[in-house]
Amino acid sequence: MSEQFTPNNPLPQEAPVPREMAKFSPEVEAEIERHLAKYPKERSRSAILPLMFIVQRERGWLDPEGVAYLADRLRLRITDIWEVATFYSMIATKPVGKYHVQICRTLSCKIMGADTITEHCSKRLGIKPGETTGDGKFSLSEVECLGSCGTAPMLQLNFDYHENLTPQKVDELLDQCSRDEYEFKVKLQ
Ligand code: FES
Repeated sequence: MSEQFTPNNPLPQEAPVPREMAKFSPEVEAEIERHLAKYPKERSRSAILPLMFIVQRERGWLDPEGVAYLADRLRLRITDIWEVATFYSMIATKPVGKYHVQICRTLSCKIMGADTITEHCSKRLGIKPGETTGDGKFSLSEVECLGSCGTAPMLQLNFDYHENLTPQKVDELLDQCSRDEYEFKVKLQ
């Protein structure tokens, strides 16, 4: 099992200090420029989320070097970037597996059996929430309401929603992922 990660949590005690700044290809830089161009120069911080998603997509998670890049690009302090990153469970502030299973644990999902789903995933994957499988393929998290309460219990697999879950449905999903046959519906551009 790899190191624990705690999405949606305050920063680790020792705030990671970047040793250098992330670098991106000209294509990615152009994509970043397109987002920045949507806002007046003095409001460039408004582009923080789309830029964060790009950095995460390119680097697998929002690593310290990516944070340093964003701070430089948006003319913000490193802490400004971490403040936003640690608020959203969609932003990984520690490395996560290829398939990030995030189970909603808030009221509607809880009432409708989220605990059973979490336990089932835990057993299937051999990890607890907050952990990643040894092969780096799956991470498991519990997150707060994902706004899909009417179809509880539900989980988010990377950016795809899976709703009205049963252990059988979860098995089918995890089987597809294990075979790398799962097709992501939401792809961040
Ligand atoms: S309570 Fe689970 S999506 Fe809202």
